Amino acid sequence: CSAVPEPWRFDCYPERGAIVSRDMCESRNCCYVPQHTGQDGVPWCFYPPDYPSYSLVSVQPTPWARRGLNTTVAPLFFADQFLQLSSSLPSQYVYGLGEHRSTFQHDVQWNTLTMWARDVPPTEKTNLYGVHPFYLALEEGGHAHGFFLLNSNAMDVVLQPAPAVTWRTIGGILDFYVFLGPEPAAVVQQYLEVVGRPAMPIYWALGYHLCRWGYQTSNATWEVVTSMRNYGIPQDVQWNDIDYMDKFLDFTYDPVHFDSLPELVKDLHAHDQRYVMILDPGISSTQPQGEYWPYDEGLRRGVFIKDAHGNTLIGKVWPGLTAYPDFSDEATHEWWFENLQRFYKKVPFDGLWIDMNEPSNFLDGSTNGCPSNNIEDPPYTPGVLGGLLRSKTVCASAQQKLSSHYNLHSLYGLHEAKATASALTRLLGKRPFVISRSSFPSQGQYSGHWLGDNRSQWKDMVASIAGILSFNVLGLPLVGADICGFSEQTDEELCVRWSQLGAFYPFSRNHNALDSKAQDPSVFSPSARAAMREALLLRYSLYPLLYTLFHHAHAHGHTVARPLFWMPLFTFSPRPQVPQDPLTYGIDRQFLWGRGLLVTPVLLPGADSVEGYFPAGRWYDYYKGDSIISLGKNILLSAPLDKINLHLREGSIIPTQRPNLTLWVSSGQPLHLLTALREDGSAAGELFWDDGESLDTYENLQYAYVLFTVEQSQVVQTHVEASYITVESASFYGVQSRPEQVQVNGQEAAFTYKDNKFICSFLVFTQALSHVNTTQT
Ligand code: NOJ
Repeated sequence: CSAVPEPWRFDCYPERGAIVSRDMCESRNCCYVPQHTGQDGVPWCFYPPDYPSYSLVSVQPTPWARRGLNTTVAPLFFADQFLQLSSSLPSQYVYGLGEHRSTFQHDVQWNTLTMWARDVPPTEKTNLYGVHPFYLALEEGGHAHGFFLLNSNAMDVVLQPAPAVTWRTIGGILDFYVFLGPEPAAVVQQYLEVVGRPAMPIYWALGYHLCRWGYQTSNATWEVVTSMRNYGIPQDVQWNDIDYMDKFLDFTYDPVHFDSLPELVKDLHAHDQRYVMILDPGISSTQPQGEYWPYDEGLRRGVFIKDAHGNTLIGKVWPGLTAYPDFSDEATHEWWFENLQRFYKKVPFDGLWIDMNEPSNFLDGSTNGCPSNNIEDPPYTPGVLGGLLRSKTVCASAQQKLSSHYNLHSLYGLHEAKATASALTRLLGKRPFVISRSSFPSQGQYSGHWLGDNRSQWKDMVASIAGILSFNVLGLPLVGADICGFSEQTDEELCVRWSQLGAFYPFSRNHNALDSKAQDPSVFSPSARAAMREALLLRYSLYPLLYTLFHHAHAHGHTVARPLFWMPLFTFSPRPQVPQDPLTYGIDRQFLWGRGLLVTPVLLPGADSVEGYFPAGRWYDYYKGDSIISLGKNILLSAPLDKINLHLREGSIIPTQRPNLTLWVSSGQPLHLLTALREDGSAAGELFWDDGESLDTYENLQYAYVLFTVEQSQVVQTHVEASYITVESASFYGVQSRPEQVQVNGQEAAFTYKDNKFICSFLVFTQALSHVNTTQT
């Protein structure tokens, strides 16, 4: 026993809190070696090397080696309510495994990541809102593989320093998928081929969203919208939290405090803005009969989750006692749709926010508790917060159409998102906009996600980057954290810095808790307001790039926000790329949009500079075009309070637009191409463009795809599949000497040249750009 090195000891007594004695351990035929090193987490009771297990017969070697994965390092278990498989890992570089509050690269020092959907403000080492049993691991030389356990039961995923992983689940089957990459980006693509690629968002999903819990009235909500407009701050979407409801009842609005809600929505629409409101799954069960259609009709149709005896299970959420729709049943989807249809006639909302869908319950189980059996109290309970499967949710033994809640619990948010997205599509005939708190693999097909109830603290802002990168790896690129923080009180500096970072969240929403003071941009000092406005205008000017990145997520399974080690899989280049710089593997205080745009936010109070890592190559300051040539090093950047550092990787062409107060207006503006040249004068970039809201434009070939390339002083627009795009101007960073002449589509054009960049404005442009030629001495 003691010959087994500590990092390779696989826990034979994982029961949480158990003080394991020699007798207890040896009764399981395991090794008992109490720890003297004091190192946290090393199991005292572990499997001996000769522990009986299954053996593999008829193994067929394939040309694809299982690189660094050895599943004989610990015994396999395949029992009722206890299934376990361990495997060695090729390195300690492990990512994914959501939803957890952690660094992007997971810690492998005896780190148990428990998965079971749970309503709790993000905290380290606890199960959170979503469940994603998928990891991506880097290997020697930058290759990567992915591992997915398609299983919705409560589970522990244990990382240990060998490095190795143990998957321990309490139901279902061991349905594993291994993705061999070999590039990290290919691993995610392969994973998304299995679980489904994310939906293409409706265009305004990428605008700025404003929300809070605690707008007292619809007029108060309206006032915020109006002051945002008056201050010229971009805003596409106004949201309401549960305040808008009458007594917190879904599908109602408060006739007194929110009496002007329909007019507010009309006004938003008149300004090309959109309205999103919250819906919770809990349906009040205590309204007088005949007065609350959602419950009466739901009961009549039998759409609610039943307890173990077949009666409607009653829990408690905002409106008091509630029943929970069973979204695993198609009949519930129809009922949900009809509820939305009825409410839409009163308030023509544009999108939906589905909250509390773990599902959350203020009681443990139900008003009647839960029965005592091995579903409620399984032989082994993973390390769930509260210690019981029913903690702050419904009974595990509750019955749903598809199976018991024990099996379906962590799928609740996915099923609700599916019902909601399909109802919105039927209602509006456009791409549905849904943001869900709980999530499960394949969620990206139906909704985006926000990272839940963070706090107005600098460390929460820091943690948001890891969360956003993780969800991009997990196939939910439309993700953001509550900008300026949800609970607690923000302060001006934090909120400015967070608004700058949040302008680069793929989903950008400022949201605030009930008792916190207002934190929308309009309430701050003129200089803070100006800095937030600038950051949002920057986001809006980059919309063509962001939209194109979402297209690639939808069409090809790419990520939108990426870690620095992510080398691109070009759609237009066959050259596979693997990460080469181990110094980038742990970075989660900076990130990229696509391959070319590096975001280096300030994450500390009182700072007027920020240190950022620059992977080898040439990087250009986004605003000024000054170049940095890095061999892979940290660089100190100036970062006054009104600035977020952005850099362009050499070889990129970024399509931008003149920003405006809504994406509806700014997306009608002509393009400006920003080019960051390689030393050899080459660069490439792309644009995907369509009407922004119709369903399946890519699938139905109703789009334009433009590939821009620069070679030898010439920019060429190729692959034009539609021709209604206008390029008005272009700038080029990295032009070594002043061009003698610039031609646009064969005609001489005006340009300016300063230092290493020149800017070229095309005055009248009635035709799509096809050529810019420069002649250089
Ligand atoms: C919990 C959500 O996470 C939060 O964003 C929301 O404001 C509250 N519920 C109230 O609806």
